[in-house]
Amino acid sequence: MHEGGKQLAEHYYTARPTSEHAPGQVRYAMPDGTVMVFATDAGVFSKERIDRGTREMLKAVVPKPGDRVLDLGCGYGPIGIVLAALEPRAFVTMVDINERACELARRNLATNSISNAEVLCGDAFEVVGDRRFNMVVTNPPIRAGRRVLEAMVQGAHDRLADGGQLFLVIRTSQGAASMKAYMEGVFGNADEPEKGGGYRVIRSVRISAHDKA
Ligand SMILES: C[S@@+](CC[C@H](N)C(=O)[O-])C[C@H]1O[C@@H](n2cnc3c(N)ncnc32)[C@H](O)[C@@H]1O
Repeated sequence: MHEGGKQLAEHYYTARPTSEHAPGQVRYAMPDGTVMVFATDAGVFSKERIDRGTREMLKAVVPKPGDRVLDLGCGYGPIGIVLAALEPRAFVTMVDINERACELARRNLATNSISNAEVLCGDAFEVVGDRRFNMVVTNPPIRAGRRVLEAMVQGAHDRLADGGQLFLVIRTSQGAASMKAYMEGVFGNADEPEKGGGYRVIRSVRISAHDKA
């Protein structure tokens, strides 16, 4: 990527990565022993291994039959695909702005024989349209900056049904306390159902206008 003749570092949240392909593969063992396989590549987040924050998230979230789940910033798909496999009667919408990540997520859905999920490519809340969810899960793009993260929290709140939950994982040292305070401000509540390895999973529940009154 060039700007004014200057070479800029390419981030994992670039829409069209130009870095040379470097295909890889990572695995995730499900609680029942099934092993999920994920194709990865250069230019996407955590291509060498499933991120520790992602693993903490997967310990905290258990979808229920009928849940409509949004995986916000799905990367090559570890969160959305594992959740869809855990509960085949839930439906998972996976969204990423990075086209290479979207292609991998689609391929990984097929490789793992997951049919109760879709991948949408583009800026998260532009592409989800009028879909509504009762769970939003995100390992957010910290490097994109605080304003992007805050817009994601607000966007999640706006698209959650009453009683729906947002789960966000963040490194303790990368602003977990202030992100929890921000979520508390938007939703009126926040707790930490999981923490480990220097990460915290923060959860907020959308309260109905009736319950607020
Ligand atoms: C920290 S990575 C997490 C990837 C994956 N969920 C995982 O756990 O490995 C955050 C992801 O958010 C994506 N992202 C950044 N800004 C976005 C936006 N505005 N809309 C959708 N996805 C976005 C990035 O491309 C990146 O793949």
